[in-house]
Amino acid sequence: MTKILIATLVASALGWAGAPAVRAQDEPPASTPEQLDVIDKGTDTIDVSKYPKEQQENYKVFSEKCSKCHTIARPINSSYALPEEWTAYVNKMRHKKRSGIDEEAQKTITSFLVYDSSVRKKDLIEKKLKDKAGADKKDAPKTDEKAK
Ligand code: HEC
Repeated sequence: MTKILIATLVASALGWAGAPAVRAQDEPPASTPEQLDVIDKGTDTIDVSKYPKEQQENYKVFSEKCSKCHTIARPINSSYALPEEWTAYVNKMRHKKRSGIDEEAQKTITSFLVYDSSVRKKDLIEKKLKDKAGADKKDAPKTDEKAK
C-alpha cells in the first residue's frame, strides 16, 4: 500500500516537473539575483552608428520595448548571445503579462539582438559553440579563463 502511494507520488512529481522542463530546455540558464544586479548596472547604450540602417531602426524598437520592466542594460549586458538563446528569451519576455510586445516587435527585437551579438559578442559566441561541441566529450578542456 505504502509502496503504491510512494510510486504514485513520485510519478506525479515527475509529471509536474516534466511539463515546464520542456519549455525550460529552450531557454538559456537564468542569472542569479546577484548576477542580475551587476548586469543591470552595466552600460545602457549600444553604439549602433556602424550598424546597417535597418538594425539602427530595430535598435529603437528594442530600446523602447525591452526597458519597460527592467533597465535596458539587462539585455545589453546579458550573457545570451546565440541566435537560439535570443529567440527563446525574447519569446519568453513577449509572453510576460502586459509586455506590450507583439509578434512583429518580437521579430524585430530578435533580429536586432542576434545581429548585435554577432558584432559585440563574437568571442562569446565562439566560446559557447566550442563548449557546446565539447559538451559530450569527457576530456573537454575547461574554459574558465575570462575572455577579457
Ligand atoms: C513585462 C515585463 C518585461 C518586459 C517587457 C521585458 N522583460 Fe526581460 N525580464 C522581466 C523579468 C520579470 C525578468 C526576471 C526573470 C523572469 O522573471 O523571467 C526579466 C529578465 C530578463 C533578462 C535576464 C535573464 C537572465 O536570467 O540573465 C534578460 C536578458 C531580459 N529580461 C531581456 C529582455 C528583452 C530582450 C526584452 C525585450 C524583448 C525584455 N526583457 C522585456 C520582465 C520583462
